Amino acid sequence: MLQKEKSPRKLLLGHEGREKMRVAGRFNAQLIDEVRKIMLPGTTTAQIDELIQQYTLDHGHTAATLGYMGYPKSCCTSINDVICHGIPDETRLNEGDIINVDVTSIVGGWFGDQSETFIIGKGSEEAIAVTQAAFDCMHMAIEALYPGCPVSTIGDTIVAEAHRRGFSVVREYVGHGLGQVFHQPPNIPHFPDRKSRQQRLLPGMCFTVEPMINAGTRFTRLDKKDGWTVRTRDHRLSAQFEHTVLMTENGPEILTITQDGPQKGHQF
Ligand code: MF3
Ligand code: CO
Ligand code: CO
Repeated sequence: MLQKEKSPRKLLLGHEGREKMRVAGRFNAQLIDEVRKIMLPGTTTAQIDELIQQYTLDHGHTAATLGYMGYPKSCCTSINDVICHGIPDETRLNEGDIINVDVTSIVGGWFGDQSETFIIGKGSEEAIAVTQAAFDCMHMAIEALYPGCPVSTIGDTIVAEAHRRGFSVVREYVGHGLGQVFHQPPNIPHFPDRKSRQQRLLPGMCFTVEPMINAGTRFTRLDKKDGWTVRTRDHRLSAQFEHTVLMTENGPEILTITQDGPQKGHQF
């Protein structure tokens, strides 16, 4: 009983914890703005990783993914049919690629987590549409939130909008609570399920909204060789955006807003 009582309370941040999360989110967003500068044809995903590792260390912080459950790099780089957890390597970005860069920082012990999909040069119609869908789904879901709302508000909003556009929503990988831990309750599925209908987002909770939207089938395949890279089964495109969000008494507050990146309402 004690255990049951203890953990939910720790999920509710007071003024101090909220400020720490704001600082972590702000740093992470600043780093994504640095990443944006090298999103050009010819850049390798290893160069993206090096920039992230170097910038994080230079500012006295830590890249959360390096060594996390054995993950070998400081970010995830997921190109075209890769849904998530692509590992940086010598692959070069090509004109027309879409690439999601997912960055998580630890700042003074607190986590900021966000990702953005970049279109390299001029994207195909489908590349633009699926990127737009992931971006709009994330923002619509955040906008639908209110203090005490069910977690399923997120999944309801995202599934309705993605399906309306003829796209599908990945189910195997979900958003999550975060704070002084990378992944903590509540789970944030991007589709509604029984548990998310019962759980509520209370003032003081921090969590991510990170929908992965596929152009074709929602089904995924994990790369057996590296154990991380997740692709669409049909090898069609997948796009994702992620923000860290704090629920306040007045509604959701996005902690990872960039200076230079696409803002809500942006048209790709
Ligand atoms: N940043 C991812 C997320 O949004 C998690 C990456 S874990 C890794 O939750 F090990 F794959 F890097
Ligand atoms: Co996340
Ligand atoms: Co992330």
